[in-house]
Amino acid sequence: MACKGEIMENVLLEFLKSRRSVRKFKQTQPPREIILKALDVARYAPSAKNSQPWRFILVDDPDLKSKLANIHVWARPLHSAPLAIVVVCQIDESPTSYMLDCANATLYLLLALHALGLGAVWIQALRNIEEIKQILSIPNNAIPVAIIAVGYPDEVPQPRPRRSLNEIVYVNRYGNSVLGNKTN
Ligand SMILES: Cc1cc2nc3c(=O)[nH]c(=O)nc-3n(C[C@H](O)[C@H](O)[C@H](O)COP(=O)(O)O)c2cc1C
Repeated sequence: MACKGEIMENVLLEFLKSRRSVRKFKQTQPPREIILKALDVARYAPSAKNSQPWRFILVDDPDLKSKLANIHVWARPLHSAPLAIVVVCQIDESPTSYMLDCANATLYLLLALHALGLGAVWIQALRNIEEIKQILSIPNNAIPVAIIAVGYPDEVPQPRPRRSLNEIVYVNRYGNSVLGNKTN
């Protein structure tokens, strides 16, 4: 029989596995305090030298949100999402690792939103940096690294397939599969 600690471990691991990208949302605006609760958690993401180069812009203005939704076809979930959170990175605060630091904060944010019962999807920002900067008046020393579409889920997405451990985990040398079979 599993002990209490083991049950808690499994609950936490299952929580991590159960996050899905949600692209259809109810129109109810999530309360600001819930969003701030999630952003409070995002602050705990690891960053190089603890530089924390991230900033977050909450976009609920319909006109601005619609402009963001039109930057490319895969940004369309922003049309249905009542809120967009744009993760902006201060390049000078972490010149080598700003992209990684801000990706970490973005993932923490996605997981915190999931914990709070909200749906979210990461929208690609890196091909439209100048356009996003212009829409949101982002200064030159900062760069938008991700847009998160946020809202209460209006769909239950199926899990996307994942590569097997055998395919992605090596021992000592690249290609030495952890389960004994060479992968290529
Ligand atoms: C860097 C990055 C960019 C992404 N861009 C988009 C996007 O522009 N539009 C979209 O609908 N999903 C986007 N996604 C979500 C991925 O499609 C999704 O995470 C992936 O298919 C796995 O599905 P899951 O999140 O449900 O596990 C992006 C994810 C990442 C990490």
